[in-house]
Amino acid sequence: MQYDFDKVIDRKRSGSYKWTANKEKFGRDDLLPFWVADMDFATPPPVIDAIRKRLEHPVFGYSVRRESYLRAIINWLSVRHNWDIKREWLTFCPPGVIQGINLLLNVLSEPGDEIILQTPAYKPLINLVSGNERILVRNELKFQDNRYTFDFEDLRNKITPATRLLILCSPHNPTGRVWSREELNELAGICLRNNIRIISDEIHADLVFNGHRHIPLGSLSDEIAMNSVTCFSAGKTFNISGLQQASLVIPNRQIRERFENIRDIAQINLENTLSEVAIEAAYSGCREWLDQLIAYLEGNAEYLASYLGQHLPEVNVIRPDGTFLVWINMKGLGMSSGEIKDLMVYKAGIALYEGKEFGEKSDGFFRMNIACPRSLLAEGLNRMVSVLQNGKV
Ligand SMILES: Cc1ncc(COP(=O)(O)O)c(C=O)c1O
Repeated sequence: MQYDFDKVIDRKRSGSYKWTANKEKFGRDDLLPFWVADMDFATPPPVIDAIRKRLEHPVFGYSVRRESYLRAIINWLSVRHNWDIKREWLTFCPPGVIQGINLLLNVLSEPGDEIILQTPAYKPLINLVSGNERILVRNELKFQDNRYTFDFEDLRNKITPATRLLILCSPHNPTGRVWSREELNELAGICLRNNIRIISDEIHADLVFNGHRHIPLGSLSDEIAMNSVTCFSAGKTFNISGLQQASLVIPNRQIRERFENIRDIAQINLENTLSEVAIEAAYSGCREWLDQLIAYLEGNAEYLASYLGQHLPEVNVIRPDGTFLVWINMKGLGMSSGEIKDLMVYKAGIALYEGKEFGEKSDGFFRMNIACPRSLLAEGLNRMVSVLQNGKV
């Protein structure tokens, strides 16, 4: 079956954050939004059918996780990511990945501990560290040959006796890097040798382009599995972030029990009835949909790179290996980030995240979400090029 990713869906009526919070964030209502990381595509039909079927039952009280749901997740990790996990390693944080990392941070570190984060980074990860009174240590990614890589030398230099944790984002938001096995092994080895635990945020794991492969951190070796926690979710992959759910793989029993203990004190373990139904359907019956989605996203990334390459050669597009986020360096335009943002918002009517939201050193960069019908992407890029070239659309 061929799925239609070209179809434009009116999301304003649905209370979409991305489409209705523009005024709050950018001061204007009528913007084409390319900021919040969800997709403008319909959730796959098997997921909608499964929810519809569940709605035929009239009771929505507390529920327990069904065996078929657990099997669907475990099977997904095995088939899609070649990672065979033990049933007991799998645990949950129903409100989402960031909530899960927030709890983990409290399990694995104390106020005043140093936590390493590779920047540029997704802002809520930065906020989690400073908001929990930990010390944020930035291990800036290296930019070489138009590609981001880990800076191992900087990492080694920044480790002190107070370093407790490293938060990894894999694949990486905002740069779109899908880390190789060699890179991950080296990173995990440094952490092991220095008694640093790793929390690996793998929410973008399923969105990986041709020629790349996502390697779950915990799949590298038993030793690395015992030293790390992997967080993932079906939210980005199948456009069900609004249903909220996160799964965690915690092979280390001590860490898992401490995590579950503080999670259960807060009473946030019970699954959302409809999320469970949606996720089971997504992991069980949407592989073909996902393959087509990835091909479409790759086409959008290609379209963006070639359009900007042709019309705005001063701008440097960092080609993503995966995710639906594209990191664009606009420093070559010779304008300040604020000036570019104002032109985009007030003249072009488009909304992108500014680089500085991802770390101080990313001023002059912008992050564009390309998970939308190509016609919307084309419209956004067309407006962007016009204002950046001529000051008006
Ligand atoms: C790297 C990363 N982690 C976590 C999240 C948010 O996850 P959740 O909504 O499950 O908390 C996002 C959303 O954009 C993300 O990009």
